[in-house]
Amino acid sequence: MTESLTIRRPDDWHLHFRDGAIMRGVVPYTARQFARAIVMPNLSPPVTTAAMGSAYRERILAAVPEGADFTPLMTCYLTDDTDADDLAQGFADGVFTAAKLYPAGATTNSASGVTDIAYIGQVLERMAEIGMPLCVHGEVVDPEIDIFDREAVFIERILAPLVERLPQLKVIFEHITTEDAVAFVESAGPQVGATITPQHLHINRNAMLVGGIRPHAYCLPVAKRERHRLALRKAAVSGSPKYFLGTDSAPHPRGDKESACGCAGIFNAPFALESYLAVFDEEGALDRFEGFASEHGPRFYGLPLNGDTITLERGKARVPDAIEAGGTEIVPFHAGETLGWTLRG
Ligand code: DOR
Ligand code: ZN
Repeated sequence: MTESLTIRRPDDWHLHFRDGAIMRGVVPYTARQFARAIVMPNLSPPVTTAAMGSAYRERILAAVPEGADFTPLMTCYLTDDTDADDLAQGFADGVFTAAKLYPAGATTNSASGVTDIAYIGQVLERMAEIGMPLCVHGEVVDPEIDIFDREAVFIERILAPLVERLPQLKVIFEHITTEDAVAFVESAGPQVGATITPQHLHINRNAMLVGGIRPHAYCLPVAKRERHRLALRKAAVSGSPKYFLGTDSAPHPRGDKESACGCAGIFNAPFALESYLAVFDEEGALDRFEGFASEHGPRFYGLPLNGDTITLERGKARVPDAIEAGGTEIVPFHAGETLGWTLRG
């Protein structure tokens, strides 16, 4: 049995840090494991300009513990009024690595998102021209569409036509949750990739709803049926360069989750690598972990691979019931469980 695994240092290609005290509390968990992370811009107010992206990056860097080598990669929150010149300048200056499309109302802090993709047609054309990647929250917001179908309908109504219209645009289909998404990504060209979260590899919708409502298993897109989880696991461990690690770690104070209207988001940053590795181990695919965690993402984004390594060892990693961050209690993914791998150092 493999007792330890040394891989190139991984990156997290989809992450929420928030701002202020919570951000300062959660950044160290990510900086300990990952060299880089694509940081989501859904703050309140959202990060919509290069100046805001640059200021947010400075606040994150100030929260990186001494001695840690961590680079936040910033994203611009697209709105109906995004200024294509500011966006392109932010990309050229290295402030923004990508832009994020939130359909307005799809998820946490998405109210200022895009109400109709037609409004950002020129922005997307410009992005395709300059090679700026588009990160997509792939769910429709049509109230007539059942929440469990919102990703599949998004593919049909928005994503497939977009990819067809702008075949050069690099698109990251974020946090995919269905076999439909896997089929779409497979059928698309190499300019379409996808991130997969640890929770969507571990849980199906029963985890959220059987035996009582479990708000800490609620995120968006919501976990789906078991057959979808199995399709995601197959995709993640397949070795295909289209799939890469993106935790979607999304911290919310315990009280905001355990509420009559609980927030969407799972805080998985503290044990992210241990969580993913459990899946690759169960699937007999430890040899594919490095590709998923450390190689496919940077190659897709056109960024260098990290030069240093990390080592994970077989052993007990006990996940606490709660974690304190910036004076707030947050319940992590796998709270109270013991995982079978630990990160050395
Ligand atoms: O569960 C989620 N939480 N999904 C998202 O798309 C946003 C995120 C958040 O910001 O809390
Ligand atoms: Zn997210």
